[in-house]
Amino acid sequence: MNPIAATVSKYFTESFSTRPALYFSPGRINLIGERVDYNDGFVMPAAINKGVYYAIAENGTNEIHFYSMDFEEWLSVGIDDVKKMTGWKNYVLSVVNEFLLLGCKIKGFNCVFAGDIPRGSGMSSSAAVEGGLAFALNEMLNTGLNRAELALLCQRAEHNFPNVNCGIMDQFANMMGKKDNVLLLDCRSMEHQYFPLHLEGYKIVLVNSKVHHTLASGEYNIRRQRCEDGLSIIKTKLSIQSFRDITRVEDLQGYKNNIPEKVYNCCLFVIEEIARAKKAAELLQQDNLIEFGKLMYATHEGLSKLYEVSCEELDFLVELASQNSNVIGSRLMGGGFGGCTINIVANEGIDQFIQETSKAYQKRFTIIPEAYIVETANGTEPIAVTL
Ligand code: GLA
Repeated sequence: MNPIAATVSKYFTESFSTRPALYFSPGRINLIGERVDYNDGFVMPAAINKGVYYAIAENGTNEIHFYSMDFEEWLSVGIDDVKKMTGWKNYVLSVVNEFLLLGCKIKGFNCVFAGDIPRGSGMSSSAAVEGGLAFALNEMLNTGLNRAELALLCQRAEHNFPNVNCGIMDQFANMMGKKDNVLLLDCRSMEHQYFPLHLEGYKIVLVNSKVHHTLASGEYNIRRQRCEDGLSIIKTKLSIQSFRDITRVEDLQGYKNNIPEKVYNCCLFVIEEIARAKKAAELLQQDNLIEFGKLMYATHEGLSKLYEVSCEELDFLVELASQNSNVIGSRLMGGGFGGCTINIVANEGIDQFIQETSKAYQKRFTIIPEAYIVETANGTEPIAVTL
């Protein structure tokens, strides 16, 4: 059994003298399609083998007891007392709250969890926390929600108590991921396809800038608001539903004088990123990684200059990667303002890439970055108990 799963299970059994059910809930990467999930665009995420492990069992009372092993903190609440709090507590309680809002009769339970996604790294530890608990409660309460419905429940949970107005990408990847595949998700219709991830000769390497981002900081919601503001101005003239109905950038240019500059730049990025993600899906199917990689660089440029969600450290990492002949694509991943870059690197150059990046980054920022070679994984699932 995975060592974290074993630790979580052991802690649970020692604390509560019963055997729990165990679950693994993955984080995600996103190959391309950033900040377009809440703009009816296309995204290409995959669940990964880093995530959150849950041990959970009913306790026959009206109380819920959580223990976060990572934060070394307990939380005990009565079922009638579920309310907004701060930090990790907000994420678990918000999931419970969504089940209550559905009218489910929650039973008291005990829950221990821990994970290996570095905080604020852009791999969506929040969706992993939400997804594992939602999946477990769905089984425990026999709610009968399917995976797509659970993803939507988790998205609502993130909107509600933590107040992050996220799109659906992270929660969808968390529930629907398939090992060795990436998803192509149409965030308007929720239609999705799986593409086998053929990275012949290459691997995906994440480099963690260790700059801590928190989506709850409000900047995430501000970008979303800019898009909504821009769209509503455009809609006064054009009969469109969302940005993806604008297929030519020239159609936006006519609005340059009517839309505040920052808002205009966000709109421009979104239109370009939706087109890039569509193109990228074709390239991936053709196994054309070189051209795919060029689109990743273009995404970074847009996220940095137009959408303004990068930072000096991430720009430095991407610039460094672009100078390395073993790297074919690099960009910041996820919500931005810190966290990881995602890089496609030739197998033979990975060690050198990691060493050189680490050295140059430390020299420039006196921060020791971390690198992870990513493997894809299935969406949230029960773990067979072998103890
Ligand atoms: C976060 C959000 C997602 C998505 C990405 C950016 O991870 O949770 O919904 O918007 O940022 O693409």
